[in-house]
Amino acid sequence: CAASTDVHKKFLQCLSVSDQKIPTYTPNNKNYSSVLQFSLQNPRFNTTKTPKPLVIVTPVSEAEIQRVILCAKESSIHIRVRSGGHDYEGLSYVSEDPCVLIDLIGHRNITINVDDKTAWVETGSTLGELYYKISRKSKTLGFPGGVCPTVGVGGHTSGGGSGVMLRKYGLAADNVIDARLIDANGRILDRKSMGEDLFWAIRGGGGNTFGLVLAWKIKLVDVPEKVVVFTIDKTLKQNATKLVHKWQYVSSKFHKDLYIRILIHNEKNIFLASFISIFLGEIDRLLHIMQENFPELGLTRENCIEMSWIESTLYYAGFPRGESLDVLLTKGLPPTLYSEAKADYVQKPISVQQLEGIWEFFNASEAMFEQMILTPYGGRMDEISEYELPFPHRPGNLYEIQYLMFWDEEGEEEAERHMSWMRRLYAYMKPLVFASPRGAYINYRDLDIGVNNKKANTSYAQAKVWGIKYFKNNFDRLVQVKTKVDPSNFFRNEQSIPPLVE
Ligand code: FDA
Repeated sequence: CAASTDVHKKFLQCLSVSDQKIPTYTPNNKNYSSVLQFSLQNPRFNTTKTPKPLVIVTPVSEAEIQRVILCAKESSIHIRVRSGGHDYEGLSYVSEDPCVLIDLIGHRNITINVDDKTAWVETGSTLGELYYKISRKSKTLGFPGGVCPTVGVGGHTSGGGSGVMLRKYGLAADNVIDARLIDANGRILDRKSMGEDLFWAIRGGGGNTFGLVLAWKIKLVDVPEKVVVFTIDKTLKQNATKLVHKWQYVSSKFHKDLYIRILIHNEKNIFLASFISIFLGEIDRLLHIMQENFPELGLTRENCIEMSWIESTLYYAGFPRGESLDVLLTKGLPPTLYSEAKADYVQKPISVQQLEGIWEFFNASEAMFEQMILTPYGGRMDEISEYELPFPHRPGNLYEIQYLMFWDEEGEEEAERHMSWMRRLYAYMKPLVFASPRGAYINYRDLDIGVNNKKANTSYAQAKVWGIKYFKNNFDRLVQVKTKVDPSNFFRNEQSIPPLVE
């Protein structure tokens, strides 16, 4: 546990004087561990050495969450906020400062309004629940959020949120039209009362920084009754390198309805480039687009599968065909693999020779498995200015790279060994990717790029080291908003925007 302290007693005392019975767990409670572990995604942050929260609370209503925030303020205890628990560095539940974990697991109402194509989504909800509930109301509406159904709507949208419809509709955050937020003074605000600067900052500037988002009002987007999906695997012998090379030139220029991502991976020691696609239209039009723009991939009608948009969310999440949609509402098995991730943005195609250099790294890895996911940009992402929201990687980017690795051996040395592979690959990639400044994505959280001070205030210059990678020139505006709305830095973590201090 983070250093033992009395502040949590003050906090509990404050909670107890209210009529509200907010579920509260301290390490003495028999359910403490299961509540803590419920949405924890990376076992790297579930060891005996990991600092644990002094108290976990699971408030349900807005009034309960507000009460928790006010008590935390009054007792000067640090807080962490958790929605889906998918933060790659565990920042939603791991803190070296003694802290209260506000887990929003019980705060998950979703109200869909088909007539005006909007929804209010409480931030404890998962993407899977959101997609499921939309599909129960309409076959022709969807939402352009991320791929993994267990990701929380709270953290995901606070960091931008990218999914397979981003070429047509942008990020999840691009489709937020209102929000309810508790600020550092414990006030509940909506878009009108928070003002446009704060509303801008919370749509991509990172979670647990400007306030606690209670709910998002989102715009639902039109999807056809049937979409088309396909996956084509290519080995090196089947020209994988040349195809990846060509994909770099065409994938950001395809019609917005077409999204083809590439998954680079080893499958039973065979190197594969898997081209995984969704097309928001009919098979004939897809075949025509592919014949015109990327005939080398050799797409045929037989490769194409027609399904509803909601079924395609299961397809992308890796579920077998015919799986019940109810799986979108479940938590799945607890993750057992340790993981690490990083990101890059590419503005100029990487040469065939340089791609071959990347593949070498895959041969040299000792991890259980590693992946590179290449996400095509262009389309709607080219139409939105880099200043529109905090997420700046817009026009000019051909694609995003996400590096991921997973291993199953316990221990810090093992983790260090595997992560050093990732760091070597990241160093190799430096001259091949956009580097002024080198980009990163706050939803693929990476503490290697810089962190705030643990105890003292973090200066603007220090935070800019990591902040400019996530936000480019939007960093300054984020600092201004933070200074105005939370000068005491109540909402913070190792990579939250710091306020300017006198
Ligand atoms: P978590 O609860 O860990 O929160 C993340 C951050 O947001 C923390 O700092 C937390 O304090 C803060 N936060 C959470 N709720 C908040 C609230 N209500 N108000 C204020 N702050 C809040 N990304 C992507 O763009 N596209 C994708 O397809 C995927 N896929 C994916 C799959 C898997 C398996 C993982 C582990 C991760 C992804 N991601 C992703 C990354 C994901 O979007 C990112 O980790 C999000 O921050 C996760 O949001 P959660 O609410 O689940 O995390």
